Amino acid sequence: MSIDLKRPEYVPGHGLLVGKSVLITAAAGAGIGVAAAKKAIEEGCRAIVISDIHEGRLQASVEALKAETGLAAVWGQVCNVAEEEQVQALIDFAEDRLQGVDVLINNAGLGTSCALIDMQDAEWHKVIDVTLTGTMRMTRHMLRVMKARGKGGAIVNNASVLGWRAQKEQAHYAAAKAGVMALTRCSALEAAEINVRINAVAPSLVLHPMLRKSAPEALLEQLEAKEAFGRAAEAWEVANVMIFLASDYASYMTGEILPVSSQQA
Ligand SMILES: NC(=O)c1ccc[n+]([C@@H]2O[C@H](COP(=O)([O-])OP(=O)(O)OC[C@H]3O[C@@H](n4cnc5c(N)ncnc54)[C@H](O)[C@@H]3O)[C@@H](O)[C@H]2O)c1
Repeated sequence: MSIDLKRPEYVPGHGLLVGKSVLITAAAGAGIGVAAAKKAIEEGCRAIVISDIHEGRLQASVEALKAETGLAAVWGQVCNVAEEEQVQALIDFAEDRLQGVDVLINNAGLGTSCALIDMQDAEWHKVIDVTLTGTMRMTRHMLRVMKARGKGGAIVNNASVLGWRAQKEQAHYAAAKAGVMALTRCSALEAAEINVRINAVAPSLVLHPMLRKSAPEALLEQLEAKEAFGRAAEAWEVANVMIFLASDYASYMTGEILPVSSQQA
């Protein structure tokens, strides 16, 4: 039976992360982070820590993951990736609960829409700080800890096709995501020396319910029309690629950016 590209069926787990432990940031929304957490469990990970800036949603996500998957080894820890102390505390918490983090998924990223001539420094800095510097902070501390432990690991960052392509009112977000791509490539070179692989996904469009509520309908229709499949990706379709990059199937990949997109330009 072939896959219907307009209405794909959810792909069940294939054991890609059996025996591994996983830490994911920004995993309490309705989007890619929580989808990646569910996938990691379905792919057999032995334990997982999810994190988010939003405490209420985080606890709800922990309970939902436990109930849906039956895995008891699920923990939540609040973390604003823009705060160095919280980043260090998160990684130390995860190291302790998971008895070593094998896989880190840096999912946190923040976007707004603003024309450059109206851009205030505060808005520019906020988007860069969460999206780019937050990914750097998480990677830096994780590598220090992985180096000390000496067992290697894998890190998957969440970039965006906007790191390559242009869109009006997205100069700050696109610059941050281009930065995530450069960070991925450069940090991967250094991390290879300690047996850590670092790759990124670059999704084009994932319209989960929270985004559908917050963005103008006309813009969403315009963005969906740019996709060859005529639709946005499901969050789990991006999560599938993240899990592949985190798994040993991607053992000869590092510093790579994989688009998860049906756009051609
Ligand atoms: N949705 C898309 O179309 C799309 C496309 C390309 C890339 N991305 C990237 O995917 C990632 C997830 O996006 P999503 O659309 O699935 O979002 P999502 O709905 O999963 O929400 C993002 C989560 O980030 C959390 N968050 C916000 N600021 C934070 C901070 N400072 N520290 C920690 N957590 C914070 C929010 O509380 C929320 O739970 C982001 O990096 C985004 O840039 C999304």
